[in-house]
Amino acid sequence: MWEEKSERKIGPFKLPSSSEWKEFPQEEFEWFVKEVEKRFGINLSSYKPQRVKRRTELLLRKYNVDYRKYLDMITKDKRYLNEFLDKMTINVTEFFRNPEKWWELRDDVIPSIARNALRMRFWSAGCSSGEEPYSLSILVHELKLTYKTNILATDIDAGVLKKAQEGVYEERSLVNTPKEYIDKYFEKLPDGKYRVKDTVKKIVTFKRHDLLKDPFEKNFDLILCRNVVIYFEPEAKQELYKKFVESLKTGGFLFVGSTERIFNYKELGLEIYKPFIYRKVK
Ligand SMILES: C[S@@+](CC[C@H](N)C(=O)[O-])C[C@H]1O[C@@H](n2cnc3c(N)ncnc32)[C@H](O)[C@@H]1O
Repeated sequence: MWEEKSERKIGPFKLPSSSEWKEFPQEEFEWFVKEVEKRFGINLSSYKPQRVKRRTELLLRKYNVDYRKYLDMITKDKRYLNEFLDKMTINVTEFFRNPEKWWELRDDVIPSIARNALRMRFWSAGCSSGEEPYSLSILVHELKLTYKTNILATDIDAGVLKKAQEGVYEERSLVNTPKEYIDKYFEKLPDGKYRVKDTVKKIVTFKRHDLLKDPFEKNFDLILCRNVVIYFEPEAKQELYKKFVESLKTGGFLFVGSTERIFNYKELGLEIYKPFIYRKVK
């Protein structure tokens, strides 16, 4: 994976001297953020500014350009735009990330939803390359509930959604996946990669969606938003949780990442069902 450190080469390579390590004026950065919103509708001001600035400036240094020239590059050539978006949003993910939480979904949360619902709607928000919604789909298959379940999977990054739809993964993304599930739900390809079977894909719909800007669908029984809000400013995070609660049915569940405790859950109309799994109160 791309690393910020890798831009400053070590060993036989020369580190840039402080004069080569160009600083960029704050006003130019602020101008750039506004232009990106105007031209591409991407609201970078809801992300932590120091992180956005640091990551953008690594790209400016890579191409040896200033903010104006770089804006020109990402406007004219989609490849540069894709690279820029890729650096802003880290797409790291895997199947059954934090596995013990997934077994709680399988053994408790999903069966309890199924007992009361004729149809079930789940949403994986910030789904990256598809490992999260496909993990959910595998559990729905295990519980034999596919006939009444739909999973919406969304991300801001069109590149990762393309990968998600292809559904082909390196072995390392399956480290937490029980062997029994690998045998049942994946096909091993000659190059050693694994393709998720069509039956797993069938109940998942992928869509491009910006959590900071686009309208939210309603009536979900379960929303997963894990390892996405870590890049958001506190106000954006609060607004997002409010909108998730509005999108849940009463009694519906919100499953967040294992470092993403919601401190004002009561105020938002949630209760703690299990650590990192909240429930919309009746
Ligand atoms: C670290 S991945 C998390 C993937 C998965 N949820 C997991 O926990 O394994 C974060 C994802 O959030 C997406 N993301 C970042 N900002 C977003 C936004 N404003 N709207 C929708 N998705 C966003 C990124 O593109 C990235 O794919």
